[in-house]
Amino acid sequence: MGGPDWVYTETVKDHFINPRNILKDEAEFNADGSGTVGSMACGDEMLVAIKVENDVIIDCKWKTYGCASAIASTSMLSVFVKGMSLAEGYKITPADITDQLGGLPNHKFHCSVLGDRALRTAIDDYLEKQGRDNPFKGNTAVIICECKEVTDQDIEDQVKRGVSTYEELQEKTEIGTVCGKCKEKTLELLHEYNHLYGSHSH
Ligand code: FES
Repeated sequence: MGGPDWVYTETVKDHFINPRNILKDEAEFNADGSGTVGSMACGDEMLVAIKVENDVIIDCKWKTYGCASAIASTSMLSVFVKGMSLAEGYKITPADITDQLGGLPNHKFHCSVLGDRALRTAIDDYLEKQGRDNPFKGNTAVIICECKEVTDQDIEDQVKRGVSTYEELQEKTEIGTVCGKCKEKTLELLHEYNHLYGSHSH
């Protein structure tokens, strides 16, 4: 930790100072799908809105009350997502975004998670509005606990349903009850999802 950890790349600074594709007028943009994640309470609510043609994302705008990293990462996302298919957009990970930015300070990493999640929520919203089946939802799950075959998606679902502690999660999923080597990763995700969805339960 210390000095170099706080350094932002030139690309991050550029996107922070000149953010691209900010959503100024929702009515005018008339999105085909939009999604919000994060919480006002944490000061990092994020809205991503997309326009879609032939299953290709042709436009993407966003707004956030988040920090510099959230602004820079979502700005970057809004640029490189254009021209991607819905399937490609759905697969974007936080690491993809930070790669494009040339990295983010470690402690700021979770900020970029909001952009890709908000995008997935916007794609979900688009498909729902079209009355179409969602072929992506559930297909991006990664197994976190091999012994009990619990995925990140399972953890996310539990948090959405009100689980907030490791013990509660274990009760529901038996995660980490065999070898226990998944605990650290689980706690990380739990923290992340609590941050994203925790406020919705109050
Ligand atoms: S990997 Fe989760 S208990 Fe073994």
